[in-house]
Amino acid sequence: GTSTITVQKNSAIADIPPRIFGSFVEHLGRCVYGGIYEPSHPTADENGFRQDVINLVKELGVTCVRYPGGNFVSAYNWEDGTGPRGQRPIRRDLAWHSTETNEVGIDDFYRWSKKTGTEIMLAVNMGTRGLKAALEELEYVNGAPGTELADRRVRNGITEPMDIKMWCIGNEMDGPWQVGHMSPDEYAAAVDRVAHAMKLAESGLELVACGSSSAHMPTFGSWERSVLTKAYDNLDFVSCHAYYYERGAKSLQDYLASSQDMQTFISTVAACADEAKNAHTGDHDIALSFDEWGVWYSDVWNQQEAEWKAQSGKDLHHESWPKAPRLLEDIYNAADAVVEGSLMITLLKHCDRVRSASRAQLVNVIAPIMAEKNGPAWRQTVFYPFAEAAQHAHGIAYSPVIDSPNVETESFGLVNALDSVITWDETNHSGLLLMVNRDASDAHKVTASLSQLPYFDISDFHIDKAIILHDDNPYQRNSADDPTAVTPQELHATIDNGSVHCTLPAISWAAVEFH
Ligand code: AHR
Repeated sequence: GTSTITVQKNSAIADIPPRIFGSFVEHLGRCVYGGIYEPSHPTADENGFRQDVINLVKELGVTCVRYPGGNFVSAYNWEDGTGPRGQRPIRRDLAWHSTETNEVGIDDFYRWSKKTGTEIMLAVNMGTRGLKAALEELEYVNGAPGTELADRRVRNGITEPMDIKMWCIGNEMDGPWQVGHMSPDEYAAAVDRVAHAMKLAESGLELVACGSSSAHMPTFGSWERSVLTKAYDNLDFVSCHAYYYERGAKSLQDYLASSQDMQTFISTVAACADEAKNAHTGDHDIALSFDEWGVWYSDVWNQQEAEWKAQSGKDLHHESWPKAPRLLEDIYNAADAVVEGSLMITLLKHCDRVRSASRAQLVNVIAPIMAEKNGPAWRQTVFYPFAEAAQHAHGIAYSPVIDSPNVETESFGLVNALDSVITWDETNHSGLLLMVNRDASDAHKVTASLSQLPYFDISDFHIDKAIILHDDNPYQRNSADDPTAVTPQELHATIDNGSVHCTLPAISWAAVEFH
């Protein structure tokens, strides 16, 4: 039979927030050093940033970039990365057990953000620091000239306020691995104080509280309830983090259905946000910032950590502190790209609650973009579904009714083989149909009926472009030597009466641009 995807008149979810196409740059491994920054690279600009990487960041369509961590931020002194490069201190980074040269800091990253046309979402250190450092950083970054720290920024060459609006108050403070990790009550009190003071310093900020590090944390849900209820008045967002990988799932089929988990995650955290609002009879919603999501499976880091731990106890262990080591350099396959495409569909289908998201991370470290030392930058499989959505999913998101066969999963029971979201941008009179076939074994014939989209004109219905990402070998990957092994191919799609007809092979993601 044929599966159907049908937009109904009142299936609009919300306007798509540009920040939903965000990403993440952490001082971790080769994300900054050897990723966005490599002063000796042939394409490096006057600040040492790789132009070839900048070009790919633009092609990816990234809107907003979380910086500088991640776990890294929890022992970071933001001042270390400012001032003349030659005078910046070299320090040990406890989170990733690396040497931090501080060649790149907020001033440099601001210049990079201007070049890439991205917004910065800045995280402050709540591990070894807190209120005072956060306020000082805010003054340095956003202050109008005329006060000490704003003037220091001007002397460092950035005359205008950076106008960074969105600030993460710490990172994963519930995680026992986090430097300075806290109990729910400790963090609730701390974030309440910091958010309150930051808003005294500057109106218009949008502040993000740490949510749980994952849905597997023992305090998932109760953490959010404590934090959001305590600090409700000064919070705008709560962060959500979720990573998926095949070995972490019960089967390939379960892995392909990972978006079911993300959906439950979103509804759980949204309910906590609602509870906080009700408890305060509040006037604003706390939105979700899904600021770490994606596929991550390399366990090299865990192995290294285990080795250090095995050494300790015997003696002082003077282990190495490498500079920009290769960490978390996952190489993604075709199935991973389908899963990420499916996760993106889920984010868009919940964009009434998820008003910001950052795919983790951007370059080299669990990343869509890989940068070879002194060599080319290339696109991983997961680059493509993100880029298509970021470039073309604009306007309003619509959640269609889906009638497709079910697939059986151990973790989520029976789930629809297909998932889909449709977007329509009235300004440009163009739309995007995103579809995923999460079935590990069967192809499905699909009819997607768009005729009930408001303002959409059946008589003028055209497909501008139809693409599919699929490989008969779901484990096929791209590499530096073969960077185009898996790329989107033309999807054979026909149209009639406002409907698109096509066939989606097992484990595939597809996009149809139309007007
Ligand atoms: O993205 C990699 C790491 O994952 C981040 O530093 C941390 O926040 C999360 O645990």
